Amino acid sequence: MTDADPTPPGPTEWGTTPGVGPWDGPLPDDPRYDRDLLRDGDTRNVVDAYRYWTREAIIADIDERRHRLHVAIENFGNDANIGAVVRTANAFAVDTVHIVGKRRWNRRGAMVTDRYQRLRHHATTAELLDYAAERGLEVVAVDNVPGSVRLEHTRLPLDCLLIFGQEGPGISPEAQNGAAMTVSIAQFGSTRSVNAAVAAGIAMHAWITAHADTARAW
Ligand SMILES: C[S@@+](CC[C@H](N)C(=O)[O-])C[C@H]1O[C@@H](n2cnc3c(N)ncnc32)[C@H](O)[C@@H]1O
Repeated sequence: MTDADPTPPGPTEWGTTPGVGPWDGPLPDDPRYDRDLLRDGDTRNVVDAYRYWTREAIIADIDERRHRLHVAIENFGNDANIGAVVRTANAFAVDTVHIVGKRRWNRRGAMVTDRYQRLRHHATTAELLDYAAERGLEVVAVDNVPGSVRLEHTRLPLDCLLIFGQEGPGISPEAQNGAAMTVSIAQFGSTRSVNAAVAAGIAMHAWITAHADTARAW
């Protein structure tokens, strides 16, 4: 972007101003609006379509449009990537983010997007796999380990649970054994792997490319 040729701001909070000021004109009586935000302005990290809406109204609206995609991240050693995974899952209207292992996780990277995202904890990978079986979700482990197939050559299932491993150990043997398949993201450089949250973003977007209706995206 240059001064002479400014790119118009996209339909998100990343415009030229940090949010919007107080409502201009007579106050609307739509119950989705929050009286305090109408009065004070809205600088939350929400798309413009949700400006001044109550949190409950935003969640209810996303709940109508959630995708048939679940993601899980293993958290046996406190993985700092979970916040970023939650934020990306929110952006793609993922059904639920499942956290396996330790209940506590670092919310910083989520940038408060976790308030609008369904989250579910499972003590063990076995518990997560039972959940997937009960709900008819096809489990896909994501890691570049022996036995994996290329994500680039794979159509992810519609009713899908993607499981990601953690920095260091990677995907657990339990997750890999319980999955219908393991997919790897093609790499070409020297590093053994990409960051787990980056891998999660790539894999979630592969599902979006295969199954989402982009005409309904912001
Ligand atoms: C940093 S990796 C660690 C394990 C990795 N297998 C290794 O040998 O270093 C952490 C997680 O990120 C995801 N990941 C990283 N790079 C990936 C790739 N190229 N393909 C698929 N998943 C990847 C996987 O879910 C993995 O469990």
